[in-house]
Amino acid sequence: MKRVKVWDIAVRGSHLLFGVLVLAAFLTSEEDDSTPLHTRLGLVLFGVVLFRLVWGFVGSRYARFSEFVRSPREVMAALRQMVKGAPKHFVGHNPVGAVMVVTLLATLVTVTVTGILLSQGPEWSGPLLMSKSFAHGVKEVHEVSAWALPVLIALHVAGVVLSSVLEKQNLIMGMVTGFKSAPTQTPEERPAFVARFAGFLTALVVGLAAVLALWRLMPIGEAEAAVSSPLLSHYEAMARAEDPAFKGFDAARGKTLYFEEHDGKTGKVACATCHTPDATKTGRSPAGKVIDPLAPSAEPTRFTDAAKADKWFDRNCKQVLGRTCTGRERGDFLTYVQTL
Ligand code: HEC
Repeated sequence: MKRVKVWDIAVRGSHLLFGVLVLAAFLTSEEDDSTPLHTRLGLVLFGVVLFRLVWGFVGSRYARFSEFVRSPREVMAALRQMVKGAPKHFVGHNPVGAVMVVTLLATLVTVTVTGILLSQGPEWSGPLLMSKSFAHGVKEVHEVSAWALPVLIALHVAGVVLSSVLEKQNLIMGMVTGFKSAPTQTPEERPAFVARFAGFLTALVVGLAAVLALWRLMPIGEAEAAVSSPLLSHYEAMARAEDPAFKGFDAARGKTLYFEEHDGKTGKVACATCHTPDATKTGRSPAGKVIDPLAPSAEPTRFTDAAKADKWFDRNCKQVLGRTCTGRERGDFLTYVQTL
């Protein structure tokens, strides 16, 4: 047997980052406070996954999918040999390990893509404004695939330990140093990292570009600003008093409230009638009175005075809905106009 360099720095680096980022994403997944951090970690993880996927096509020999992805028949054959305790030697991933590599990567793609979709959904009222039920489906997939990860990682580690015992070599250290022992007749083929520099740059640019673009587009952290608005906490307290099962405000519901038409004294009337369909624009009452834009982005003094906001909620809700608005409706409405 001799020592051969198998795993290039890109494979080892992305492997290490997968471990660190998945762990960090788990630790930040429960608390609302850490959600923006969780999203950012997930976004970086998505970038590393993209990098690794591209590197799987343009990378050095043992990094490429074509090198280690085998037919089901070969996988079964390798599995049988492992069960017999006499595995055939593979310089890179063995076919069984390769199934795990592909499964893990597919799960990471699922987790990160659903996570990105969720960060655009009604909960944070991002640009996609998905329907509530679709967002719920996405959330379900995100959580199931996220919980599949520790299970898969445990199986992966168990498989590596088992293979290490069967092959009588430390495969974990192999992923750290890049070296594995291989039969003496194995041709010496060092990962030609420098020769693959163009491929490396491509993978890096794809991963980085995706992260940077999404980082800019996604409303990361805006939920914090919304929650810290004193008026919103006031409505949250109101909504909780009305309904102890209150689950949070929803911009999509607020939008519906804003546009929904009701029968008024002089025909159909909606909030949008006076405040115009675009709350960042100057409105006008039927009597012709000019109304400053309702969206705080266009008129920063909006929703800074609780007494004033409540006075107008009372008055305008009565006029449009024939009743005053609940705390939840006020919070939904405010959440919606804050997204504009
Ligand atoms: C008939 C016209 C009209 C309609 C319809 C209307 N509003 Fe208004 N709204 C006004 C006017 C006038 C003001 C106060 C003028 C100002 O502040 O510039 C106002 C102000 C407000 C404010 C005060 C915001 C702040 O803190 O500065 C809120 C909140 C509000 N409206 C909510 C609503 C909601 C919710 C609806 C729909 C249920 C609605 N309005 C429908 C005319 C209307």
